[in-house]
Amino acid sequence: MSTTAAKGLEGVVAAETEMSFIDGTNGVLEYVGIAIDDLARQSSFEETVFLLWNRRLPTQPELDAFTKELRGKYAIPNELVEVLKHMPKSAQPMHALRTLVSALGAFDEDPNTVEPEAYRHKALNILAKAPTLVAYFARQRQGKDFVAPDESLSFAANFLYMLNGEKPTETMERAFDVCMILHADHGLNASTFTSRVIQSTLSDVYSAMSGAIGALRGPLHGGANEGVMRMLNEIGSLDKVDVYVQGKIDRKEKIMGFGHRVYKAYDPRATYLKTLAKRLAEDTGNQALYEMSHRIEVLMEEAVAAKGIYPNVDFYSATTYHAIGLELDLFTPMFALSRIAGWAGHCLEQLDGNRLIRPKAEYVGPHDVPYTPVTER
Ligand code: SDX
Repeated sequence: MSTTAAKGLEGVVAAETEMSFIDGTNGVLEYVGIAIDDLARQSSFEETVFLLWNRRLPTQPELDAFTKELRGKYAIPNELVEVLKHMPKSAQPMHALRTLVSALGAFDEDPNTVEPEAYRHKALNILAKAPTLVAYFARQRQGKDFVAPDESLSFAANFLYMLNGEKPTETMERAFDVCMILHADHGLNASTFTSRVIQSTLSDVYSAMSGAIGALRGPLHGGANEGVMRMLNEIGSLDKVDVYVQGKIDRKEKIMGFGHRVYKAYDPRATYLKTLAKRLAEDTGNQALYEMSHRIEVLMEEAVAAKGIYPNVDFYSATTYHAIGLELDLFTPMFALSRIAGWAGHCLEQLDGNRLIRPKAEYVGPHDVPYTPVTER
């Protein structure tokens, strides 16, 4: 029965934002009016977070103060370390992250405030601690000791240091920093919309972030980067790409890392990540995966580009994260580490002139149905 419902809310404008501008027809992404390519080339994740939350770039003293506050929050409380120690090694990292971010709220003596300044400090606290939670969880399941955060390091360098037990090269630090910039915000994607719905009830930052992590995990959303890596592993080698892709197309099965609800052109983030993936592949001798990815892209361009299906942010982020040395099931948590910035920014926007988000559902079921006692059913 046809309804007036916009399936998947496609095309529905559900909020205004001053953070990301997306032109899906021409493949344009801007953060507060600045082209994503300029930010990827010249900015840092810390500066990008300040830009998104304050709607302007910081002066140097402002950036220094913001960076100092962020780094001062890297460490996690001992009680939370104890909770983390009881996480099963077999837990999936996104489930662990969702649980531990939620647990952070249990240790906050005033978790529910929606006063903007207090909210912002709590959001920064979650942003700063999420990398520590992921790194500690990843090392624990490998039977390795925790590596405490180093406040002298940038967000990107500190995460790789805590994860690997050694400071990253400048190339790896910059590559990861760029990935964080590129993933920080993207309009009303499913996980951001989730965070705004939760926030619109005047619930708390921990609930909004935890709910958003849950939405991001889905394979149609942030989970796609892990799906791309699994696909590359399944294909195995460059000579098997053509048969694999043709089979997927023939069976009308979707290829992870392609297609987008808004972009009907090349995702500008994918453009940048492709360049990064190629450079890292050459630096680390991982050319095979990059060449397979490029071949998949060529085949998909021939088959479905006419339908507006192009690589999205997840397609080349997979080979980039692999080249940085990350385990496959840490790829989506990387997306979350960055997108906490966008989710919190949108929740602050939601709180500014908040109205409960409550769309309608069109009832398409029967009417005037008599109640039949259970003895007669
Ligand atoms: C992210 O929204 C955001 O901004 C998200 C994100 C962000 O920064 O937050 O950009 C991050 O989530 C990127 C998307 C990651 N997901 C994937 O890579 C999963 C694979 N992609 C598809 O599942 C799909 O493209 C979606 C979910 C991303 C978008 O789906 P839509 O808009 O609901 O489109 P659809 O499923 O209705 O498909 C429309 C047509 C269909 O063909 P027809 O039935 O009309 O003939 O396009 C085809 C689909 O079969 N299609 C694909 C395809 N994606 C869509 N065909 C082959 N391979 C694909 N990947």
